[in-house]
Amino acid sequence: MKGIILAGGNGTRLSPSTNSMNKHLLAVYDKPMIYYPLSMLMLAGIKKIMIISTPEDLPRFKQLLGDGTSLGISLHFKIQEEPRGIPDAFIVAEDFIGEDNVTLILGDNIFYGQGLTDILRKAVKNHSGATVFGYRVKDPKRFGVVEFDDNQKVVSLEEKPEEPKSDFAVTGLYIYDNKVINIAKKLQFSDRAELEITDVNKKYLENDRLDVELLGRGFAWLDAGTHDALFEASEFIKNIEQRQGFKVACIEEIAYYMGYLPKEKLLEIGESMGNNDYGKYLIDISSRKHVEQYWGVSDHHPSLRVVENE
Ligand code: TTP
Repeated sequence: MKGIILAGGNGTRLSPSTNSMNKHLLAVYDKPMIYYPLSMLMLAGIKKIMIISTPEDLPRFKQLLGDGTSLGISLHFKIQEEPRGIPDAFIVAEDFIGEDNVTLILGDNIFYGQGLTDILRKAVKNHSGATVFGYRVKDPKRFGVVEFDDNQKVVSLEEKPEEPKSDFAVTGLYIYDNKVINIAKKLQFSDRAELEITDVNKKYLENDRLDVELLGRGFAWLDAGTHDALFEASEFIKNIEQRQGFKVACIEEIAYYMGYLPKEKLLEIGESMGNNDYGKYLIDISSRKHVEQYWGVSDHHPSLRVVENE
């Protein structure tokens, strides 16, 4: 399984903050936005990840994250020349995906909730067809909307409908088999001159290969694409982190718990960050005992020491 983070686009709704800065590098509370989708892919056990962004911004992502070695993963970078739509990611990343399945996450999507790691790993393991995640929202008109029949079977998908047939939006996390590359290549541009991910999902639905997993009310799904949403996301993360004393989407911590980074290396990274909260946190984590209880698994449990999902 390969992973892709789509971190291009225009970010017009966050202007002027995004006039000279890519949206996904803006901070959501105490870390860059892209750490959140990256942590999701890492938790899913995906180790080969491509970051796609604009020609101007891609070097900054490289500067921020390097080639992934320090996290025990492998990061690849590719330019999307124009924001041609979400499925364009599969065309841009065709060589990187190769013969594998692929998980795509939008760079401005933040997921949080107990049990998410398990849901992700199950969905990614032995994957076939397409899996997307539905989430109840107050304003479904802004999203791709999924309609179910009485037996919870998906009957329709619509992109930004005037009259939504349900309150369930499709989130920005998608898992596909390798056929997605050819499906993306055959898509037509929509009225807003983009390739639409809803059209990809409709293809899988037509072939009865679409699985929609619902994320219940215990989960938070936020997209940080507007000023209000960005502010709310920062507040949300701050509240959780300050209450629990654990960071959300701390990629070095995740690499440590996944078994990609030894304790000494985590300590070294923390110390190299100087006297700031993030660095102190890494130092603290490297010396904590019984932390595995917070992950619901023991230090030696196979589900924690995930080996790469090929
Ligand atoms: P959007 O939020 O739909 O678009 P945007 O980021 O350009 O923002 P705005 O609407 O304010 O102009 O994009 C969703 C996510 O997908 C976001 O993380 C950017 C990313 N994206 C790309 O990287 N390339 C694309 O071609 C598109 C359409 C989106």
